[in-house]
Amino acid sequence: MILITGINGELGSALTKKLSQFKSEKIIGFDLSKPNENIKDLLYKTYKGDIRDSELIKKIFAENKIDTIYHLAAILSTEAEKKPYLAHSVNVDGFFNIINSINVKNVKFFFPSSIAVYHLNCNNKNIKITENDFCNPNNIYGCNKLYCEKLGSYFQNSHDTEFNIDFRSIRLSGIISAHSLPQGGTSDYAPEMIHNAIQKKDYTCFVRKDSCIPFIVMPDAVNAVIKLMHTNKANLTTDVYHIQSFSPTVDQIYEKLILYFPKFKLNYKVDKNRQKMVDSWPSQLNQQKAINDWDWKPEFNFDNAFEKYLIPKISEYYNK
Ligand code: SER
Repeated sequence: MILITGINGELGSALTKKLSQFKSEKIIGFDLSKPNENIKDLLYKTYKGDIRDSELIKKIFAENKIDTIYHLAAILSTEAEKKPYLAHSVNVDGFFNIINSINVKNVKFFFPSSIAVYHLNCNNKNIKITENDFCNPNNIYGCNKLYCEKLGSYFQNSHDTEFNIDFRSIRLSGIISAHSLPQGGTSDYAPEMIHNAIQKKDYTCFVRKDSCIPFIVMPDAVNAVIKLMHTNKANLTTDVYHIQSFSPTVDQIYEKLILYFPKFKLNYKVDKNRQKMVDSWPSQLNQQKAINDWDWKPEFNFDNAFEKYLIPKISEYYNK
């Protein structure tokens, strides 16, 4: 039995859709609210509640034989900066509640971490970093993610072998989906700009035009998570990998969009807190570990992501 927390989030919904295609595994969904219409029929069971409610989380594990977990429920980086205490309790205590409720051996546990764990500056921003470089986050969300990675590895190697977990994590780049928009993240400018352009609306960007971080489109993110979870553990040389598809500047996204929508207007109103985070995140990731260990390869690059996925799928979405 699979448990997915945060099913109504972007990644949660996309992962539920994909995993439900493997009919052999039943999915239990958890979120603050009832499951969205587009996924509710794909779930075997649902629980509605707060990830901080340790009694409820224990009850979910007691009532079901959960052997695989995708723990996605979290508050994203921009929201987290506004409410750091809340972010800590949802992102860290919530994680711990799940770990603390596991009641069978060798549960497979996927945790989406983030490029927010890194902190670079203008002198090293363009270095292709490895997973071991610059792990010194300047934001509460990055701190929460880094600590949870460490907790996951700790419990994987715990001396108390009774409930050892099989922990796997990916530090995801900014995700761009054709079917949804993120809530409260900092990489949101890219998906927001693209969705607005396709709806023939102007967009006011909250970071400078030269801002550059790695992105990934949703189908690649979902495939990566599933691929990592199905790789033989013996092939994995680390618990935490980072991956990306492409690293455009804001200006490059704009240039791409005006090829399709020549009237699209992009304005700027820089938010200094969000800019500070984006400036501290890497521009490029060295993905050699993921390539070597589980044969990671994105299907989409910057050009075909627009041509084959974003433009057609988002247009279809808004014309329904
Ligand atoms: N994309 C997320 C955010 O911006 C980071 O993982 O918060």
